[in-house]
Amino acid sequence: MVHVLDTVDSTQAALSALARRGAPEGTVVTARHQTGGRGQRGHQWWDAPGESLLLSILLKPPVTLAVLPPLSLVAGLAVTDAVRSTASVPARLRWPNDVLVGERKLGGILPEATGAPGGGIGQVILGIGINVCQESFPPELAHLATSLRLVTGRTVDRDALLTAVLEAMDRRYHVWLDSGFDPMRDEWRQRSSTIGQRVTTADGRAGVAVDVGEDGALLVDDGSGALTRVVSATAIEHAEDNADAAHP
Ligand code: BTN
Repeated sequence: MVHVLDTVDSTQAALSALARRGAPEGTVVTARHQTGGRGQRGHQWWDAPGESLLLSILLKPPVTLAVLPPLSLVAGLAVTDAVRSTASVPARLRWPNDVLVGERKLGGILPEATGAPGGGIGQVILGIGINVCQESFPPELAHLATSLRLVTGRTVDRDALLTAVLEAMDRRYHVWLDSGFDPMRDEWRQRSSTIGQRVTTADGRAGVAVDVGEDGALLVDDGSGALTRVVSATAIEHAEDNADAAHP
């Protein structure tokens, strides 16, 4: 079921509340505007009312937290599928969770997982934000962000984009559940803006990103002779929703 709301704090929080009341897998919350939109690493996610696609999808994959990291990459593929099919924009993916056009951010993905006893996943609330109709951004974002409107010069229908995102996510989520990330790895490599680039790992080592693993890890060649695997899993709690919430 898709819950279409006007203004919410965050679609993540609204869906979390529905999940606590027993909402089934596949429940979606979308809103016209968020007053407390959440981004990665505790950042805020800005929108102007009616100009972004803002949605959260409830997933209950029967997997452990350890195998969850590729889900972000799978979602990135689904978002770029939708942007390609509805707006003909060849958006690219910056590992792990950013959707880019050129160097600018078109969208982002925020997977928030809740652990279950025994190391399993209770649920994942997969947040997706795409800049659709903005003709300008606040000064602090102007050099970092873009929208489908700015890229194409046309207005892209947010409802059509929502349908395309949900269809692509449904298809790719089931491929991932059945066969893992491997069947989609080559497409991810082709859409990646990270592979081939110089990157700095969280512990400060510089190198070149050379590949993505079956487990979603970024493989970095730092010249030491062995590849460093960088995993995106960092647990961050959102105490207001659920003490076990984590960003994979
Ligand atoms: C990022 O920082 O790149 C991730 C942004 C994710 C934003 C989306 S908008 C819909 C959903 N609700 C939120 O509060 N955040 C996600």
